[in-house]
Amino acid sequence: MTETMIAVIGGSGIYEIDGLEDATWRTVETPWGAPSDQILTGALGGVKMAFLPRHGRGHVHSPTTVPYRANIDALKRLGVTDVISVSACGSFREEYAPGDFVVVDQFIDRTFAREKSFFGTGCVAHVSVAHPTCPRLGAACFEAAREAGITVHRGGTYLAMEGPQFSSVAESKMYREGWGCDVIGMTNMPEAKLAREAELCYASVAMVTDYDSWHPDHGTVDVTEIIRVLTGNADKARAMVRLLPGLLGADRAPCPHGCDRALDFAIMTAPD
Ligand code: ADE
Repeated sequence: MTETMIAVIGGSGIYEIDGLEDATWRTVETPWGAPSDQILTGALGGVKMAFLPRHGRGHVHSPTTVPYRANIDALKRLGVTDVISVSACGSFREEYAPGDFVVVDQFIDRTFAREKSFFGTGCVAHVSVAHPTCPRLGAACFEAAREAGITVHRGGTYLAMEGPQFSSVAESKMYREGWGCDVIGMTNMPEAKLAREAELCYASVAMVTDYDSWHPDHGTVDVTEIIRVLTGNADKARAMVRLLPGLLGADRAPCPHGCDRALDFAIMTAPD
């Protein structure tokens, strides 16, 4: 058994965890540079917690400039075992309405201007991300959201786009009709891949703010409307996070899906 430490990487609109005991902002240095911000650590219901604002306090990093490698490395150094991403998304499904949460389980990675691996020079590794999220952690997020009274959907494919601009109508329709994606956002990749390389369990809760640009009755993305929904979503996300320690517990058995042993199954060259 190891000790659970849950990290929440909060997206736009999420800048704190309510009720955190012994809350301390900690500076963590990594070989990949500085993380997006200091990391808030503490405990909730006897379970160790960490919180990292993905865009930094004051929203200083765009989706492209978020230091994804430093963020995951810093969490690993703090002893984090489970990473929960909370982020805003657009919806490609009528029934995933603004204000709903989606516990996504698959990604299509269309980002192209970000460092995506800890490996590459000296030590090469090819890790499987066939199942990029942890089902055990996803189930806990789903349960926490449900208990918090949130309309939450289990499963979905998240299209990770580079941004920072939103999609054109043609792109939106292609992702939805051609590729069968369920939601779209700008930040979950390469974060999920890096978490797997770091042998951390990773789950993603995508909070719907809009119907992107495909919906005939909702027009194209409206930023004012996104911000309005985002504010309501942030309160719900905090309610969900408060329930996670009780569901995950302080003692942590090895991940039944092997997320914490991912490198055992990777193709690797020996470091020089
Ligand atoms: N984040 C919130 N809504 C989004 C959208 N429609 N596209 C990309 N990222 C988003």
